[in-house]
Amino acid sequence: MPAVGAPAQALGIDIGGTGIKGAVVNLDSGRLESERHRIPTPKPATPQSVASVVGQLVDQFGWSGPVGIALPSVVRHGVVHSAANIDASWIDTDARALFAPVAGSHVTVLNDADAAGVAEMAHGAGRGVAGVVITLTFGTGIGSALFVDGRLVPNTELGHLEFRGESVERWAAASARKRDDLSWADWAERVNTFLGIVDGLFSPDLVILGGGASKKPDHWVPLLDQRHALAVAELANSAGIVGAAMAAVAGR
Ligand code: BGC
Repeated sequence: MPAVGAPAQALGIDIGGTGIKGAVVNLDSGRLESERHRIPTPKPATPQSVASVVGQLVDQFGWSGPVGIALPSVVRHGVVHSAANIDASWIDTDARALFAPVAGSHVTVLNDADAAGVAEMAHGAGRGVAGVVITLTFGTGIGSALFVDGRLVPNTELGHLEFRGESVERWAAASARKRDDLSWADWAERVNTFLGIVDGLFSPDLVILGGGASKKPDHWVPLLDQRHALAVAELANSAGIVGAAMAAVAGR
């Protein structure tokens, strides 16, 4: 734990389909206080194998304070309720209990897009924005985080809205661009259609575009045409880590 007077810190860990990334986060600035460590996601990414990688990261940082862990699933009160892009054996896993032996009892688990949204609201593109703000992450899937006057409504999973008989993320995630060999413009058109659906449901004031695709915004963001405001995520790669760390000490 930090010494009295030192900035509050927490360890944030973001579990993705290809890598498990962690860093110590300064909770006042939202900046990383350490290097990011990345360990490839084990295959298969079962709860036990992922927990052991989380343990390795905690050891690498010599960490004994609060830990926040972001997972690509619906997470309610520490329990996993979906597994779209992770091993099916996660469903019904009590992730908080799973990680406690390797990460300590002060561990918080939340959805990865919710974590990214929390970070963007505090330290990124959503800073100080009231009303309805939605962060969307475009990567292997599509993650979503909905905020009303800065308060998170967790687990919205807008990437699983049904579109042409399947989850819309199958068609509009960044992975679909590569899989279907689309030009950026063709993919942007898909994203625009998805954003139109989101707009019809929530009339957001602002949509923040995050995830891997937000590293190359010039290729697609200028092609979008929506009645709500759009902003590119500012924390890019670190948003999940920062938001997970913040969630670990929420309400401090
Ligand atoms: C999962 C979400 C996750 C998103 C981004 C989706 O397939 O269902 O929980 O937030 O991918 O990783």
